[in-house]
Amino acid sequence: MQTDIRRANLETLAAWNANAATWDAKMGEGNDFVEILQWPSILRLLNPQPGQHILDAACGNGLMSRRLANMGATITAFDFSSNLVDFARQRTASEFAISYYVLDATEPTDLESLGNFHFDSILCNMALFDIANVEPFFRILPRILKPGGIFVFSLMHPAFNNPTSVHILEESDLSGEIVTQYAIKSSRYMSQFQAYGLALRNQPKPQLYFHRPLEYYLNLGFQNGFTLDGFEERAFPPEIPASNPLSWGGQFNEFPPVLVARMRLAAR
Ligand SMILES: C[S@@+](CC[C@H](N)C(=O)[O-])C[C@H]1O[C@@H](n2cnc3c(N)ncnc32)[C@H](O)[C@@H]1O
Repeated sequence: MQTDIRRANLETLAAWNANAATWDAKMGEGNDFVEILQWPSILRLLNPQPGQHILDAACGNGLMSRRLANMGATITAFDFSSNLVDFARQRTASEFAISYYVLDATEPTDLESLGNFHFDSILCNMALFDIANVEPFFRILPRILKPGGIFVFSLMHPAFNNPTSVHILEESDLSGEIVTQYAIKSSRYMSQFQAYGLALRNQPKPQLYFHRPLEYYLNLGFQNGFTLDGFEERAFPPEIPASNPLSWGGQFNEFPPVLVARMRLAAR
């Protein structure tokens, strides 16, 4: 791995370990992004079934793992933050069929250890943009999925919710009445870059985001034997209030902060 990617990855690991307690306390078993934007699409696109073996990649505190295990699936889950995996284990009742591992998605040797499984499906929820290099992970997918298996991932929408995105509220009375307008301005999209950001307000340490345009992720999937066969852009409905005037909420209902995609491996 190149030195700059390795350095970024180590910094990312230090940030997620430092932020683990705050993340676990604030996320718990979900927030409005999970409940309203991610989970309904994950249910539709992943379509988890009892008895399936599902990989939850970059699982954080395991909130998706527990939801899927609760539906009768057997879950293998990993994250590179041992602190988050500790929280995931503490939160998981013993009757759930979940095995957690500390693995680094940028390390091919770590990913090799998943090669003993043949997953029905793989979920990576809101994490690809947190991973310093996603190419080793995409490369291992066709080896650890069953033929015809699916890979579902969600992203902060790279066009509308990237580190350069600015939330705008404008007011005018040009036409004889007060008109307010919400808009999003992004100054970068096509080029890849990394930038510090906050996954949660008041987290102890900013963490790095790795911005990539959508075509980058889709092309990586295509190059590794997948086709795209499901895609949802997720915006808050107008009636959902935001916690702060310029935070994501129903006032930005024309803009999706999250997208969810399903890629399918060819049946051999
Ligand atoms: C925004 S959190 C999402 C966690 C979880 N998927 C969820 O839905 O709550 C992103 C996660 O990516 C993990 N992550 C970042 N880089 C990683 C890497 N190289 N290998 C494994 N996990 C990584 C972080 O530790 C963090 O738990």
